[in-house]
Amino acid sequence: MANMSTGSAKSLRRPLIAGNWKMNLGLKDSVDLVRQLVDGAPAGGSGPEIMVAPPFTALTVVAELLKGKSIKLGAQNMHPEASGAFTGEVSPSQLLDVGCSHVILGHSERRRMFGDTDAFIKKKLQAAVKLKLVPVLCIGETLEERESNRTFRVLETQIKGALEGFAPTDLAQLVVAYEPVWAIGTGKTATPDQAQQAHAFVRQQLKGLYGEGWAQSVRILYGGSVTPENVDELMSQPDVDGALVGGASLKPVGFLRIINFKAGTKASA
Ligand code: PGA
Repeated sequence: MANMSTGSAKSLRRPLIAGNWKMNLGLKDSVDLVRQLVDGAPAGGSGPEIMVAPPFTALTVVAELLKGKSIKLGAQNMHPEASGAFTGEVSPSQLLDVGCSHVILGHSERRRMFGDTDAFIKKKLQAAVKLKLVPVLCIGETLEERESNRTFRVLETQIKGALEGFAPTDLAQLVVAYEPVWAIGTGKTATPDQAQQAHAFVRQQLKGLYGEGWAQSVRILYGGSVTPENVDELMSQPDVDGALVGGASLKPVGFLRIINFKAGTKASA
């Protein structure tokens, strides 16, 4: 899979650094964190696009603090239906109501622990698109799948399972996050080469679905133990357009350093 880079259009894609807080932080800590991010983020909305995805319980207070700021608000999940008897779930319009512009869909923790299938994720995607929530679609292989050389097959299944059957214009805002499951919360990051190889493959798949122009416009984030120490090299890869950051997004100084990544200009292969 060498030389699969399609990095020529990287400069056209605005990087996105997203923080996934998962089931962490109460209201006070959420407020403290987001205040520090607002104060420390590049002035005037320059630099990468920034998004934070707090737990549902903190969305309202965080939204208040982000009013008029350039940092975007995302949710970590949602239900595809508009309303109804879905105890414990949150609908797309409820997310819009509290000020979300983005929603993370298909995170591996949802797939693994809460039974999210590609078909269900596709329904969520359809609902997000309908309400113009920016979907951040997560895909990625487990360690066992990687070790048995099934990485690309798994990524292809997840991509097609969620994305087939759309009008490409509906997916104009789509963001994909490649998150190898073995790298999430483990401290084991994919090497920059492993990330680039997977990202280039993902972009090829996107191209196969809806064409080169669209595929070149889609931002593909890397997620899985991103830290201030490894972000620069990851972001230097031609098909890595940003990061979805879990653990390291809970620490303001570190997350701000990730936002201020320094990417080299590694030529695309
Ligand atoms: P991590 O999580 O950065 O803690 O590995 C990433 C994610 O799950 O999005």
